[in-house]
Parts: sequence; structure tokens; C-alpha cells
Amino acid sequence: MKNVLYKKIRKLIAKELDIAESEITPDTLFRQDLEMESIETYTLVYAVEKELGIKIPDEKVNGFETVRDACEFIVHACKSKDFHVSLHGETKRSKPNYKIAMNLTLKVWRQENAKAKGRFETYKVTDISPDSSFLEMMDILNEQLIRESKEAVAFEKGCRGPVAFDHDCREGICGMCSLYINGRAHGPDDEVTTCQLHMRKFKNDDVITVEPWRSRGFPVVKDLVVDRGAFDKILQVGGFISVNTGGVPDGNAIPIPKPKADESMDAAACVGCGACVATCKNSSAMLFVAARVSSLALLPQGKIEAARRAKAMVAKMDELGFGSCTNTQACEAECPKSISIAHIARLNREFLCAKLQD
Ligand code: SF4
Ligand code: FES
Repeated sequence: MKNVLYKKIRKLIAKELDIAESEITPDTLFRQDLEMESIETYTLVYAVEKELGIKIPDEKVNGFETVRDACEFIVHACKSKDFHVSLHGETKRSKPNYKIAMNLTLKVWRQENAKAKGRFETYKVTDISPDSSFLEMMDILNEQLIRESKEAVAFEKGCRGPVAFDHDCREGICGMCSLYINGRAHGPDDEVTTCQLHMRKFKNDDVITVEPWRSRGFPVVKDLVVDRGAFDKILQVGGFISVNTGGVPDGNAIPIPKPKADESMDAAACVGCGACVATCKNSSAMLFVAARVSSLALLPQGKIEAARRAKAMVAKMDELGFGSCTNTQACEAECPKSISIAHIARLNREFLCAKLQD
């Protein structure tokens, strides 16, 4: 008996009795082998009920002799709640649920380097918890690829080793985790980065397509990793304040109206992930540039260099091959930090004023 539910129950029993999971088999007797007292039995029942969201009547509990008896009843109870799972491990497609691990098919883009020809490769992953994050699922895939010695097979096909993908903070702060999942930047959830996307957003047996960002400005480095260095180059020409703003107390001494400060902070929430570029049909980086220009232009400290900043950053963006904004608003829809396109309007105003001053 090796299904997910059995493993879960075995884990709960081991935890409750403070024994090793290996001491428990489907034929283990609760009273004779585990010497369970009634208090332990009811604590365990409570833990199982809480974990699986089911109710186990007292008269049933008294009838359980072996771990198998308990598992069979629990499988039955789960099935009646649309938890489609059998004791033999197969899960069947049913309504999405939040308890049963999922089996998935992944179509992952593999590409050796920027110049190599890429292709999709298909992998199967099993027993994925709906509570794990998308990147944890990718970690599991990579562990599997290493374990199954896929390296030799991949080598013959031109790709080596586990799938390369970018990540750092895994908290939605750094903007590194840039993946196109099932045709959407950062996947099917709204206002989250890939690292904050959870597998509960998918269903058992789903086919998930994973691609890198597609843009001339973001060349593929390997597999799912792209070079977002173009954003750094844009920031280097203007995404900063070079005037001396003093120490922390001096900064706080300059009164800034609350709505302005809030708006500036909203724009400053941009993590530089590049989803706006990847989503835009023109590969425009306007939302990213606008967020930087706007967050600084709204503050007195940033106003001094506002004109120079807007001109320099827009010129760099054009030079690096990003397209123009045609107001499709796709960037705003897919931005994990909900940066508003109103900031693009501010960038356009800043840019126009700066050009008129020339
Ligand atoms: S504007 Fe949004 S989508 Fe674009 S880089 Fe910033 S956080 Fe990412
Ligand atoms: S890994 Fe840092 S935002 Fe996702």
C-alpha cells in the first residue's frame, strides 16, 4: 500500500506515538502492536479529521483493528467528499481539491544557449502537493532528472542536466523568477510572481507548458533563464538620485503630501521582473521605465533630475531593442505588483516636457 493518503496517515500515527514511520505497515495492529491507549487514539483521530477535513464516527474508530482498516474507511470518507483517491495510489481527475497530491505533465523549454535551437521536452512529475510552490515543483523535477540519470539522454539530445531556471528570494521581492507558464507571465494566478504561485492553481493530470520570457531585449541564457541585464542598463542611465539628500532625519524633514508619497511607493513596488515586456506584443519596457521615472519624479528629491532621467531612460530603452507602447494594457494586467499604466502617462508627460525644454 503506497498511496499518498496512506503515507499521510502513517506519518500522523508516527508523530502521535513518537515512533519511526518504518515501524508502521498496513497490517500493524493499533492495540497489540502499537499499544495505543484510548487517549492516543482520539488525539490521532482528531489529527486525521483536521488534516483531511472528514469526520470519523466513534463507533467506526472502535472497529479499526489494523492501519489498513482505518485507511480503507478514510479513503471511503474522502471519496464521498470528491477526494478521488484509491488505496493503490491512482488519483482520478475530479473536482479540484486541496488534499490529494497531483500528477502532472510538464512541457519545458530546453535550450543550451542563446544561439542554440531550443525545443520543448516533456516530463512527468508525480505526487506534487497542491501546497507546494511552482518553483518547489520545478525543484522536484530537477531532483527527478538528476536521480533518473537523464543527463546522458539529455546530452545526446543536446541539452545537459536539470532544467535551468532563475530564482533568488522566493518571496516576490527580487523579480528573478521569470517564467511564462501556460501562456501567461508568472502563470495563472493574478498579482503574484512565479515563486508565489502555488500548485493548487492547477488540477491533477494537467499539462503545463513552461517557457522563458520571449523578447529581443531578454536573450535566453539557458533553458528558462534569460538575461535581464538590459533592465540594469536602463537603470544605470537614470534610475537614481545623484543629489545629496542628507541623512535619514533630513529625508524625513521634507514634507511630502501623503497621496504623492503613496503613489510614489506604489510605483517603487516594481521588482524588475520583466513580465510587462514578456507580455507586451511590442516587447515594450514602458511600464518598467515608467515605474522608475514616476516613483522618483513624484518626490521633491527626484524632481531635480526628472527631465534628464526621462530622456536618458527612454533613449536607452529604445537603443536596447524594446518596442513602443501602443496602450494594449497587457503589461498592467500581468504585472505581479499591479503597477498602473497611469505611470506610463506620467512618463510621457515628463518626456514631453523634457523635450520641449531642449
Ligand atoms: S512593471 Fe511590473 S511587470 Fe514590469 S518589471 Fe516592474 S514589477 Fe515586473
Ligand atoms: S524568486 Fe524573487 S521574486 Fe520570485
